[in-house]
Amino acid sequence: METLLSPLTIESKTLKNRIVMAPMATWLSDKSGEVKVDHINHYNHRKGPGLIIVEATAVSPEGRLAAAQLGIFENRHIKGLKKLAETIRAGGAIPGIQIHHGGGKSSLETTYGLMPLVPSKSGVKEGKPCRELTIEEIHRIQGDFVGAAERAVEAGFEYIEIHGAHGYLVTQFLSPITNKRDDIYGGPLENRQRFLLELFSVIKKAIGDQAIVTCRLGAAEQKGLTMEEGIDTAEKLKALGMNIIHISCAHTIPDLGDSFDSDFSVLMNMGAIIKEKTGMTVIGVGGVKEPGTAESIISSGLVDLVALGKAILCDPRWALKTIEGKEDSIALCRSCRRCLWFTTPEKCPVRMKSEKPSQ
Ligand SMILES: Cc1cc2nc3c(=O)[nH]c(=O)nc-3n(C[C@H](O)[C@H](O)[C@H](O)COP(=O)(O)O)c2cc1C
Ligand code: SF4
Repeated sequence: METLLSPLTIESKTLKNRIVMAPMATWLSDKSGEVKVDHINHYNHRKGPGLIIVEATAVSPEGRLAAAQLGIFENRHIKGLKKLAETIRAGGAIPGIQIHHGGGKSSLETTYGLMPLVPSKSGVKEGKPCRELTIEEIHRIQGDFVGAAERAVEAGFEYIEIHGAHGYLVTQFLSPITNKRDDIYGGPLENRQRFLLELFSVIKKAIGDQAIVTCRLGAAEQKGLTMEEGIDTAEKLKALGMNIIHISCAHTIPDLGDSFDSDFSVLMNMGAIIKEKTGMTVIGVGGVKEPGTAESIISSGLVDLVALGKAILCDPRWALKTIEGKEDSIALCRSCRRCLWFTTPEKCPVRMKSEKPSQ
């Protein structure tokens, strides 16, 4: 595990190894959006990664994706988040957080009655309550992201990741399927990229080098946003000063055809393409269960860091066991997919019973 466990320095922050805990929503909060004791326990259990990225955290009340989503849209959220960042740091990882707006994926139930906002109604299910964003609202939401990033810094997070994947607001702007606006935020690629590129610039301007600012970029989707457009977006983010990028899919997993082939997942191959084309430091993700697989990915130079989702969800000590050379004792994910929209850990057949939330 020599390369997987080797350190990496990014913008003066040194990660002790190349293992990243991927952002994974727990829905452990409530209407307040505040950090609960179960959040602290959840992240405290997961020792060993060089970087832990706290789950999608709402930047605006109307961008909430679940009624129990963690929030970072008011100053009262800082206190709990500070405790969370301290817990993660005490465990030896750089504390990171993903900042998120659900756009058209939010609903009146998840926002407690606030109207969900979308770039355009294209691609939104017929009859779903939502409203198209005005230019003023676009700027207000960009301001909400800046406020969230400033709170994250105040709470002690050292890595801030804009959620620009999986069909949420940023991807709704990027994709030609969900963005049919006829102003400067819609139409040709450069207009669809505008929301994200401006967003990165204003956040970077506000917080400078107090934290790494990056994006989880949904680089392509099945039909709509192409891999070429994803590469172009990453190149522009790099030109604006982004040094590291986390690659996933946009709305759906694309077919990469013959453009890239490896023994690893499509998502990981997308990360490898972005690394090859842009030369950026890349976090790849998708389908890694065993430490040997993560080591092969890093040692072959496909990407620079490997993010693990379900593997660390079901065995919180995955990284620690790898560090201690106890790989054989890792409880491996069975790919049963029960966790995908889970609210209670008991749905995972592998996960420790002691992780049962207290609420
Ligand atoms: C329970 C669960 C919650 C997730 N929540 C988030 C999230 O908050 N933000 C995000 O970008 N991805 C989220 N994901 C996706 C993971 O970060 C990861 O990209 C995906 O699970 C693929 O990696 P894996 O094969 O290692 O699990 C979630 C996945 C799971 C299983
Ligand atoms: S619920 Fe299934 S897919 Fe999810 S982490 Fe557990 S074993 Fe893996």
